[in-house]
Amino acid sequence: MGPPGAGKGTQAQRIADAYNIVQLSTGEMLRSAVAEGTEVGKKAKPIMERGDLVPDEIVVGIIDERFGSPDCANGFILDGFPRNTAQAEALDSVLEKRNMELDHVVELQVDDEALVERITGRFTCANCGEGYHDKFKRPQKPGVCDRCGHRKFTRRDDDTEATVRSRLEVYHRETAPLLAYYGAQSKVKSVDGMAEMDEVTRQIQAILGAP
Ligand code: AP5
Ligand code: MG
Ligand code: ZN
Repeated sequence: MGPPGAGKGTQAQRIADAYNIVQLSTGEMLRSAVAEGTEVGKKAKPIMERGDLVPDEIVVGIIDERFGSPDCANGFILDGFPRNTAQAEALDSVLEKRNMELDHVVELQVDDEALVERITGRFTCANCGEGYHDKFKRPQKPGVCDRCGHRKFTRRDDDTEATVRSRLEVYHRETAPLLAYYGAQSKVKSVDGMAEMDEVTRQIQAILGAP
């Protein structure tokens, strides 16, 4: 858990690779639906551009369906879900139905002021999805993806300063209360999301234990 730009996607990808589990990012799934122009995508597009939350039944439906895939059997890391109490309760019942359990909730603690810079500088490989940043993580060879060698990159439509500010507001109003929800179950572990990327990964791995 963490506000927009906290590093959820960056860290989730690393953890998924290291632990051989899948990264389930509702934001990524919704962006694919928008790109493909599906019914869900058409509904989600204007909402995401405003920085509001897409209706719960849509995201819960996507997640529930995804949990049934064979690649989830070894475990998964949720990135950007749940985002409000209704989604957390829905997650509890979906997990129970499938006899699965949530092991940890990791919170990335960051200063809101740093987030606008992180988000407006972000870009992603159009081929493999590797994340980069104009200042904090440039490709080693300019214009070429470190991971796959591709030369095309994309920026997100919702990564404008105005949308980031409204996403931040939504985070504090709707999502941050989940820290108390999971705190009551003694599941929350916090890490310093302002530290360097590799250090954040180390802190998370210390919580999860050896891969
Ligand atoms: P989503 O895609 O989840 O976006 P978000 O929560 O706004 O978070 P971001 O993806 O922007 O940031 P991140 O924490 O992943 O940071 P990143 O690792 O990229 O959701 C988008 C939209 O979809 C929502 O607004 C909503 O409309 C909808 N949606 C999604 N899920 C939903 C749900 N469950 N219910 C309803 N609606 C939903 O890092 C950011 C940048 O910083 C990168 O460039 C990175 O390289 C850099 N960086 C990362 N870590 C560090 C570090 N330690 N030091 C320096 N730079 C760093
Ligand atoms: Mg993300
Ligand atoms: Zn790539």
